[in-house]
Amino acid sequence: MTYLYLLKYPPNEKELCHMEMRALFDLTPIADHFFSERMIPAGRSVFIKYRLEIIEAADSFAALDAKIKKGAYRFEKFKMLYLPIKGEELHYQDWLQQIRQLADTLDGSFDLHAPKQYLGMTYTKGKWYFGKVDVDNQSWSRFQDKPNTYSMSLSARDARILVNLAVREDYSKTLVDPCCGVETIVLDGLGQGLDIEGYEIKKNIAYRARQNLVHYDFERDRIKPMDMHLVTKHYDVALLDIPYGYYAPITHEEQLALLQGCHRMADELVLVTMVRMDAELTSVGYTIVDHASVIKMKFQRHVYLARRK
Ligand SMILES: C[S@@+](CC[C@H](N)C(=O)[O-])C[C@H]1O[C@@H](n2cnc3c(N)ncnc32)[C@H](O)[C@@H]1O
Repeated sequence: MTYLYLLKYPPNEKELCHMEMRALFDLTPIADHFFSERMIPAGRSVFIKYRLEIIEAADSFAALDAKIKKGAYRFEKFKMLYLPIKGEELHYQDWLQQIRQLADTLDGSFDLHAPKQYLGMTYTKGKWYFGKVDVDNQSWSRFQDKPNTYSMSLSARDARILVNLAVREDYSKTLVDPCCGVETIVLDGLGQGLDIEGYEIKKNIAYRARQNLVHYDFERDRIKPMDMHLVTKHYDVALLDIPYGYYAPITHEEQLALLQGCHRMADELVLVTMVRMDAELTSVGYTIVDHASVIKMKFQRHVYLARRK
C-alpha cells in the first residue's frame, strides 16, 4: 500500500517538520507532500494535514474515472475531497466538477454533513490519484486546556512533536521527562498510551502537575516530586526541556549536570534549548543524530535528537 502525505507547517517550523518526518518516515521531504509505504495516522503529527491511501492512480482524469468504474468501489456516507498539491493546484471549477463526477461513479451514498469516510482525489506530476483520506484530527489538542499551566510550559502541540521524535516507530519505549514542570510532555505520552514518567524538583509544581494528570484520569504517581539527579531507574529516551533560568537562576554547570543526568538515565535524548548546545552534548558523551532550529519572534529554540556514544 502506498500513501501520499500532505504537510502543513508555518515557514519558521520547516526544519522541525523535516526533522519529525525523518524520525517518522526516514526521509526529508523535498516538497510539501511525499509518498511513503509507512502508514502513520494524520492526527499523530501536527505537520500532516492529510494522508491519502492510494486505491487507484492513472495518467489522466478520464482514465482514473474509468478505473474507479471498473473497480466497482462501494462506500457508504462518504465525502469526496480534492487535496491540492502546492504549486500544482487545479482550477476551482475543474476540481469541483471532477470530484462530483467521481462521486457519481462510485457505488454507495455520500453525506456531506456527517460523513463516515473521507475519500479524495489529487493530481501531481502528470498523475491522478484516488483513495481514502485520513484527515488530521488534532488528537494532541485534547491537553491544550489542562487545568494547570505556567509561563514556562511547552504547548500541547510542541509536546506532540517531541514525543514523536522520541518514539518514532516503537511504542514500547520507556520515556522520561526529567524536569517536567507541569508535565505537558508526560500528558501527551500518556494520551498516546506510552510508558512515560516525569520528575519535578519543586514540590508545588509537581503537585500541580499531578492535578493535571488526575484531571485526565491518569495515575498521579506518573509524576515524582524529586530531583532527577537522585533517579536510579533506566529509560529508553529522556525528553528534556532544559531550564533556562528565566524564573529561577540556573548556571551553565547546572545545565551540564542535567545533561549528564539524562545521559545516565536514558540511551537517547530529545532536548529543547534556547541556545545551541552541540559542544555540551558532545562533551557529555552524546552523538547528535538530528537538529532543528525554530525562530519565534526574537526567540530561537533548538531541538536535538542525541544518542549515547
Ligand atoms: C523549563 S521547565 C519545564 C517546563 C515543562 N516542559 C512544561 O511544559 O511545563 C524546567 C523545570 O525543571 C525543573 N527542574 C529543575 N531542576 C530540576 C531537577 N534537578 N530535577 C527535577 N526537576 C528540575 C524546574 O523546577 C522547572 O519546573
